[in-house]
Amino acid sequence: MEQKLQEILQRIDRKLQAECGRVGEKIPYTTQNGRYETDMRDVNLSWWTNGFWAGMLWQMYSATGRDLYRKTAEYSEKAMDEALKRFEGLHHDVGFQFLHTAVADYRLTGNKESRVRALHAATLLAGRFNTACEFIRAWNLDKTGWMIVDCLMNIPLLYWAGRELQDPRFADIADLHAHTAMKLLVREDGSCNHIAICDPATGELLEIPGGQGYGPGSSWSRGQAWAIYGFALAYRHTGKKEYLDTAKNTAHYFIANTALTGFVSVCDFRAPREPVYWDTTATACAACGLLEIAGAVPEPEKALYREAAVKMLTALEERHCDWDEERDSILQDGTEAYGKEDGTHIPIIYGDYFFVEGILRLLEKGFMIW
Ligand code: GLY
Repeated sequence: MEQKLQEILQRIDRKLQAECGRVGEKIPYTTQNGRYETDMRDVNLSWWTNGFWAGMLWQMYSATGRDLYRKTAEYSEKAMDEALKRFEGLHHDVGFQFLHTAVADYRLTGNKESRVRALHAATLLAGRFNTACEFIRAWNLDKTGWMIVDCLMNIPLLYWAGRELQDPRFADIADLHAHTAMKLLVREDGSCNHIAICDPATGELLEIPGGQGYGPGSSWSRGQAWAIYGFALAYRHTGKKEYLDTAKNTAHYFIANTALTGFVSVCDFRAPREPVYWDTTATACAACGLLEIAGAVPEPEKALYREAAVKMLTALEERHCDWDEERDSILQDGTEAYGKEDGTHIPIIYGDYFFVEGILRLLEKGFMIW
């Protein structure tokens, strides 16, 4: 196994060096004709995924020490200063955007400008807290009372800022949010809602609509992965057992469902069996969450979570990876949202990020970005 993982890492390293040469200062999202032609700086500088390319490169910088990765990651971070200045396009996803750029840079290099960028982003995230609903509101404009499961992955930015500033407000907000997410988004059987809508003035629960999955009451696999990893991280930062138990509960549901499809997740576990829409990004993220849980539990439980993660990452590597160094992107068959015509079975940058993080975690070369 160790040798196979080393070989995968060598392939990742060769492919990402080639990609860095082609991408230069661009921020990639998906490919056109096998290449990262589109630059997200032109499309939407505030787009939620704009940190993942840099995050993956910081992971590789930490694992290999190659300067090319550091230099290329810095381009994204500097470009995103303008997004902070513009302010309006940013929302709950500043964690994804700034943990993977500024916080990663600060942690690995001690860059003080990066620290300030990340504190700006954390302050913005904390400012989105709704006291009646006890959650961080999702998105912008009229969605004042919305909370979504994805946001669990953003709150580690608050835990970081709270420690950095020795200020308990940040962790308190993160903790209240995680607690409400447990109450409103996690169902008894371990499956998850994507969205909950509350009255923003009173906190009363109004509606649980469908989100990026098949429909209301269905089971969007990437949302499930956000819950697994998000609650496991909430446990890492707080030591509260209820978060670990929730991470395990959501993980068991994910493992049981992916076991039926060769350890790669379909986009929605409660959609009709045909047509089959894979979402490899959910599998890669869930595998990282399982490895986080494995790190928090004793043997023999530890081995079970690790084995499930290995099965998932191996299945992705064997069936869904493109190792051609002339083509950009590694993990194929990601799906943005159920049934989205131009967003189904495409490579998406966060799929690559979580795949790389998962492989590095298995090799004990991972860098804790969260
Ligand atoms: N955070 C949005 C998504 O997972 O597509």
